[in-house]
Amino acid sequence: MKGKLLQYKKDFQADLDKVTDFRSLVEIKNKYLSRKRGLLTMALKDVPLLPLEERPEVGRLANEVKGFMEKELNLHQRKLEAEAEARRIREARIDVTIPGRLPPMGGLHPIMLVKEEIEKIFLELGYTIEDGPDIETDYYNFVALNFPKDHPARDSQATFLINDELLLRTQTSPVQVRVMEKKPPPIRIIVPGRCFRRDWDITHTPNFFQMEGLVVDEGITLGDLKGTLEYFVRKLFGKETKARFRPSFFPFTEPSAEVDISCFHCGGKGCRLCKNSGWIEILGAGMVHPNVFEVVGYDPEKYSGFAWGLGIDRVALLLYGIEDARLFYENDLRFLQQFR
Ligand code: DAH
Repeated sequence: MKGKLLQYKKDFQADLDKVTDFRSLVEIKNKYLSRKRGLLTMALKDVPLLPLEERPEVGRLANEVKGFMEKELNLHQRKLEAEAEARRIREARIDVTIPGRLPPMGGLHPIMLVKEEIEKIFLELGYTIEDGPDIETDYYNFVALNFPKDHPARDSQATFLINDELLLRTQTSPVQVRVMEKKPPPIRIIVPGRCFRRDWDITHTPNFFQMEGLVVDEGITLGDLKGTLEYFVRKLFGKETKARFRPSFFPFTEPSAEVDISCFHCGGKGCRLCKNSGWIEILGAGMVHPNVFEVVGYDPEKYSGFAWGLGIDRVALLLYGIEDARLFYENDLRFLQQFR
């Protein structure tokens, strides 16, 4: 009987050493100490059957083994509980080194980026920004700018007509007239804005943006126009960029010019961007026509001025190397996200 008890103690110890979870711990407890079928419980029941003189010693040993098992089971249970708690804490810990998840962020449209870039250049020179309506009258868009009714120059601006009187402005130039009507010289303004023409191809969209410039004062000369635009193109396209003035025609300027810049891509040697000419056309310009001054009540004998107009979309196409202007208006995020 004593041997059996000591064997149970040994077996119990071996069993316990293998325990790694609460379930097997309960199984062992039942195996040895269950009230009905526990090995030790059953052995204790046999004690009264022993010869009288053996009973006290065996009884004591049995109780000692039982106490040992209970104590060990308890210790082991606490060990398992501590491990479970440690695991729980470990798994719940916040890893502060994981990179954050950024909420999706918007960005400026490439045309707005270019617009702001140009505005910055002229604001630094002391210009102010003016603005006019997208829906314009035939008078401001054409007549006041010296485009008489039935003048062929109107054909070059495929116009969205609303009725006989109203249209979607085809250019930002009408704002020249609106501003001059409101205040006397000196005038030094830029006018960024939306324009509309019935065009749809790889370089033209029905909605596009222009930037207009106007300077009026006493003694303004073609030299001022040239110097201003040369400064502007160096700022926008790079220090090495040169400007070239070609004679042209606009009804509201005289003389008029088209301005090319030396290709900022190949430096003038000739490439795909400048179609091998070394030059890229970027704007129209000229000295304000006396007829326009008459319309706004300025004395053309006293004042002179220069004006220029540029397609912001076109500059954005060139600067970013974009092949199709229609991409600007499709709102495809794969395109737009490249400019963030
Ligand atoms: N408004 C003209 C256009 O849309 C561009 C332009 C040319 C504007 C010459 C000007 C200018 O102010 O002086 O084609």
